[in-house]
Amino acid sequence: MKNIVILISGQGSNMEAIVRACASEGWDARIAAVLSNRAAAPGLAFASEQGIATVVIEHTAFDSRAAFDAELARTLESFAPDVVVLAGFMRILGDAFVRRFEGRMVNVHPSLLPAFTGLHTHQRAIEAGCKLAGATVHFVTPTVDHGPIIAQAVVPVLPGDTPQVLGARVLAREHVLYPRAVGWVVAGMLRLNDGVVTHAQGESQLI
Ligand code: GAR
Repeated sequence: MKNIVILISGQGSNMEAIVRACASEGWDARIAAVLSNRAAAPGLAFASEQGIATVVIEHTAFDSRAAFDAELARTLESFAPDVVVLAGFMRILGDAFVRRFEGRMVNVHPSLLPAFTGLHTHQRAIEAGCKLAGATVHFVTPTVDHGPIIAQAVVPVLPGDTPQVLGARVLAREHVLYPRAVGWVVAGMLRLNDGVVTHAQGESQLI
């Protein structure tokens, strides 16, 4: 049985989708803990209700990024994670931290990477006149919002879309995309060659 640890900063709706998929799809895994860098993260309540261990490590309590990363890594290791899931975790992680969990740490980003790394992705997609937007799940590497792409979901950008409307359309797809991708990681279904991820049984990685 694999241990999944999920890191959140806010609503945690992707975390919730993964918790539900793990249970309903009978993954050979358990959610060992949900960690947050914000005590006010609404997602913590859902995790507690599910009987999942929760830990808050407030980044504001640390003098440096390295000190925060070290405490986060120490806490993570205490749950013996096989898979580390960043689900709306809005802190940049340092190289040493990423290297420590590389290959077993994944992230969801609300754009079709490599386009629109960083913040305000929906606003930027609308301003660029994109007709397609979406979300990407990728293995985490030291460069923020880069790393081998596991799966993507695509939605249309419709006339009159605001960043909020487009963001909600993308988020609804993330709730399908992210559990699917994490399920593959848990099941050992992914192969990585020259930075390209393929599914061992050829399942579509366009969700
Ligand atoms: C999601 O849209 C996720 O893609 C995004 O934050 C939101 C979290 O929602 N992540 C990033 O922007 C990371 N670069 P949630 O807390 O409800 O899952």
